[in-house]
Amino acid sequence: MADLGFDGKVAIVTGAGGGLGRSHALELARRGARVVVNDLGGSIDGSGGGSDGPAAQVVKEIEALGGEAVANLDSVASAEGGAAIVANAIDAFGRIDIVVNNAGILRDKAFHNMTPDLVDPVIDVHLKGAFNVARAAWTHFREQNYGRVVNTSSNSGLLGNFGQSNYGAAKMGLVGFTKVLAIEGAKYGIKANAIAPVAFTRMTADLMPGLEDKLKPEYVTPVVVFLAHEDCPVTGEIYSAGGGVVARYFVGLTPGYVNPGHTVEDIRDNFDQIRDETGYIVGSSNADELRKLFKQLK
Ligand code: NAI
Repeated sequence: MADLGFDGKVAIVTGAGGGLGRSHALELARRGARVVVNDLGGSIDGSGGGSDGPAAQVVKEIEALGGEAVANLDSVASAEGGAAIVANAIDAFGRIDIVVNNAGILRDKAFHNMTPDLVDPVIDVHLKGAFNVARAAWTHFREQNYGRVVNTSSNSGLLGNFGQSNYGAAKMGLVGFTKVLAIEGAKYGIKANAIAPVAFTRMTADLMPGLEDKLKPEYVTPVVVFLAHEDCPVTGEIYSAGGGVVARYFVGLTPGYVNPGHTVEDIRDNFDQIRDETGYIVGSSNADELRKLFKQLK
């Protein structure tokens, strides 16, 4: 089968000045996409910024490969920033086909010490950031009946992680966001999926000592690029990727306990059945739960 190319396609990769975003941007460009390398060049906690160093450096790397890219320093955290990033793609390359929402920051603290200054920026960059960029691209996607969105979730949201109530909430929020975009985009040829990566980057270096070679960002990139491709066969799904393992996360619903008019004690007495994962379903919209519900009540 032919290699998966991106000739004629234009991609935005947010937070692409380093780590995972840089790797995604390089691979998309290597395969023929023209890329907006967005990164405001801040520190891990989101402070600082305004440095064109990281984004410009990745543009240089892409050009050295013979690819085309522009650096963009706008912040994803505001609606104006999102609009400016998409405008940059249109100005430089005349279109937009792919948005990879990857920009991220960390402000970890145990929940009892979590203050608004630790919550708001994290929600703004991860969750609203994805909204801001995808929203600005959406008009173009609908008009051209084509678009790909890849959002970056995390196992800290899907499964939880100590000290990350802000980050986990934003990352699980991205799952809901992805699923709704998949539903709303379906009739316009737009597909939206999410990844939950595991990689050694500046963000995780302290948590993963010695794993730099095993968990290279480059091991996460192929599934991102596949989900961004025209041939992507799925929408509204979540893929875990790290160290060479690619797997699927999903939200399952157990068959449960059926007894209209049940009491609180019935819940206690049937709790094992409620929790039993045998025969779970994986729905692709809330209509799937309603269908299951009405079938069980027949
Ligand atoms: P990183 O810190 O190398 O990359 C994040 C990039 O986003 C940085 O270059 C930063 O300057 C940029 N950025 C931050 N705020 C921005 C803003 N407002 N506008 C534009 N750019 C901004 O870290 P890494 O690991 O590459 O993270 C990439 C994404 O993957 C993040 O969303 C992160 O939460 C997610 N992730 C990473 C995991 C890992 O194991 N490395 C695990 C799970 C999720």
